[in-house]
Amino acid sequence: MKLALLHPGEMGVTVGVAAQDSGHSVSWLSEGRSDATVKRAMAAGFSSCVSLLELLAQSEGVISVCPPNAAVAVAQSVVAAGFDGIYLDANAVAPHTARQIHALLGDRYVDGGIIGPPALRAGSTRLYLSGSQASTTATWFAGGLLEAITIEGAPGAASALKMCYAAYTKGTSAMLLAIRALAESEEITGPLLDEWAISQKGLADRSERAAIGTAPKAWRFVGEMEEIAATFAAARLPDGFHGAAAEIYRRMADLKSVQSPSLAGVLDRLRAKR
Ligand SMILES: NC(=O)c1ccc[n+]([C@@H]2O[C@H](COP(=O)([O-])OP(=O)(O)OC[C@H]3O[C@@H](n4cnc5c(N)ncnc54)[C@H](OP(=O)(O)O)[C@@H]3O)[C@@H](O)[C@H]2O)c1
Repeated sequence: MKLALLHPGEMGVTVGVAAQDSGHSVSWLSEGRSDATVKRAMAAGFSSCVSLLELLAQSEGVISVCPPNAAVAVAQSVVAAGFDGIYLDANAVAPHTARQIHALLGDRYVDGGIIGPPALRAGSTRLYLSGSQASTTATWFAGGLLEAITIEGAPGAASALKMCYAAYTKGTSAMLLAIRALAESEEITGPLLDEWAISQKGLADRSERAAIGTAPKAWRFVGEMEEIAATFAAARLPDGFHGAAAEIYRRMADLKSVQSPSLAGVLDRLRAKR
């Protein structure tokens, strides 16, 4: 298959490499992309195109891996360009956003949700797929490091799985950071860490790791938390947890470009008066 990748971000590039390692060719769109994306795409050996029309004219399938809040716009641009092949959206979006993209593309749409870090070693990362073309699309990744798993259900099922998974992982990280910020504000960090050392072993380390691990990606997690909150709301469940998590990550958004983020830097941002 000739596949188009929109776009080769940290995760996206490994999705493209998995397709390449499965015997498919991968092209990408250089127009408008940052130096970081250009470097990743070139290192992976993807073929570069300078316009969306040129890219889609030579492609039989499209893989969308981009910030969640850009997923619908990327799908709209592909539809507007007249693309008529299979379209895989592998972004962290709410099931109703997935259904919005389904409405644009019909049965050519495959819903995907990625769980795990960028796929750099076997067994680390899974791409869940749902929709009528899910099994066909799983073959795009049959020989690479990304494990494609088809699940039952209409478009929206794979996204719902991703929402539930990230609701816990990224939601609890945000909650821990909020708790550390509150302890600072109330000047009881020492006693809290002492109590955690007795009865909640591991939480101190986990909060440090949450700060350092989420800081560079917090800007992107805002959209993902909003998608999760909307998923809870659509199911008539409380959406406030993830609305708050979105705000935590929003306050950390400028850490994208900080070289060595720290817990102290994160707590400063969370507590800054706004
Ligand atoms: N990274 C992970 O560990 C991970 C894990 C599970 C799922 N995912 C999912 O994978 C998707 C992307 O993750 P990633 O790690 O590849 O992200 P990333 O490293 O931030 O890369 C995002 C890519 O999208 C491009 N982009 C930025 N703004 C855009 C916009 N407004 N419209 C279209 N494209 C835009 C970026 O280009 P520029 O370089 O020009 O900004 C970059 O090539 C997300 O939906 C995320 O939830 C990621």
